[in-house]
Amino acid sequence: MKQRKTSWSTLIFGWVIITSIATTSAALASDKVVVAHRGASGYLPEHTIAAKAMAYAMGADYIEQDIVMTMDNQLVVLHDHHLDQVTNVQETFPGRQRSDGRYYVIDFTLEEIQSLRVTERYNIASHGKKAIFADRFPINKSRFSVHTLAEEIELIQGLNKSTGGNVGIYPEIKSPQFHLDEGKDISEAVLKTLKAYGYTDKTDKVFLQTFDYSDLKRIHDTLMPALGMQVKLVQLMENNKAYQWMVAEGGIDTVAKYADGIGPDINLIVSPFSKPEFLFTSSLVANAHAAGLAVHPYTFRKDSIAMPAYAESFEILLDIFFNQVGVDGVFTDFPDKAAIFLHNTPE
Ligand code: G3P
Ligand code: CA
Repeated sequence: MKQRKTSWSTLIFGWVIITSIATTSAALASDKVVVAHRGASGYLPEHTIAAKAMAYAMGADYIEQDIVMTMDNQLVVLHDHHLDQVTNVQETFPGRQRSDGRYYVIDFTLEEIQSLRVTERYNIASHGKKAIFADRFPINKSRFSVHTLAEEIELIQGLNKSTGGNVGIYPEIKSPQFHLDEGKDISEAVLKTLKAYGYTDKTDKVFLQTFDYSDLKRIHDTLMPALGMQVKLVQLMENNKAYQWMVAEGGIDTVAKYADGIGPDINLIVSPFSKPEFLFTSSLVANAHAAGLAVHPYTFRKDSIAMPAYAESFEILLDIFFNQVGVDGVFTDFPDKAAIFLHNTPE
């Protein structure tokens, strides 16, 4: 799992304390969305077809795909451009690591990658023994594999047909600059796949996301016009210095020239130093809404190691963000809980 550095003191601007004040929102309650983060990843290994089908059945409005590219230019659904925290690549392909000891997706063909077994995410130092989230699906049980972006879209579109549903996709282009440096334009390839499956306009049920602001601009200004596309774009934001300008005064208006929404770390919205009785909230949601942007923060996890101290339960955490802060959607590993909270879906 990617570790993010927090530079909290540099991000304090316009913070306010709230207790239980309802705020305005860009979306009506009925328009708010549950995004299944890497599928129903709280219950099954992330980004497996099983986790995606479970998320669909649990009532997610959108299902997320993190996307990286293989040696033979295939788009696969994996969170990292490394293989060594969710597969058995070390024992299957010994010696194929780079000098940094890591096994890169881009150094393997799709056929090689699909020969691997996928497991619950583990701590790399534990050599596959220790899960990141101890109470989730056990490590190295059952049989899961890596699939392509096209295969996942076909799953979701197939379920939309067979159930009469209308669940959307929420692809994230991972490390576009890394791929460009390796001679591969992953963003163009993702757009071509979306177009091939009918996602071309802002009215289509897709949000295309990336952390890379330069590439978001390139997608907006160059790649989409060249392909005759105009899908909704989301700028992801980490809680670190690189994104400070976006949360500083006026920054969000610059983002709004290219994006339709933002996907911020939850700590950019509610301070992790908040208490149950005193929430310190930033002006980011209000500023984004004023700029016409939807706000879909990440990541909502009910695992005890991931719950913020200011929320006494997962439902209280959802209440804070949906009803007090007024976000338009959440990325969550537990889409059933969020769907029940938001849409009152029967258990
Ligand atoms: O894309 C939203 C959220 O998934 C970003 O974090 O690292 O889980 O992709 P990450
Ligand atoms: Ca993601």
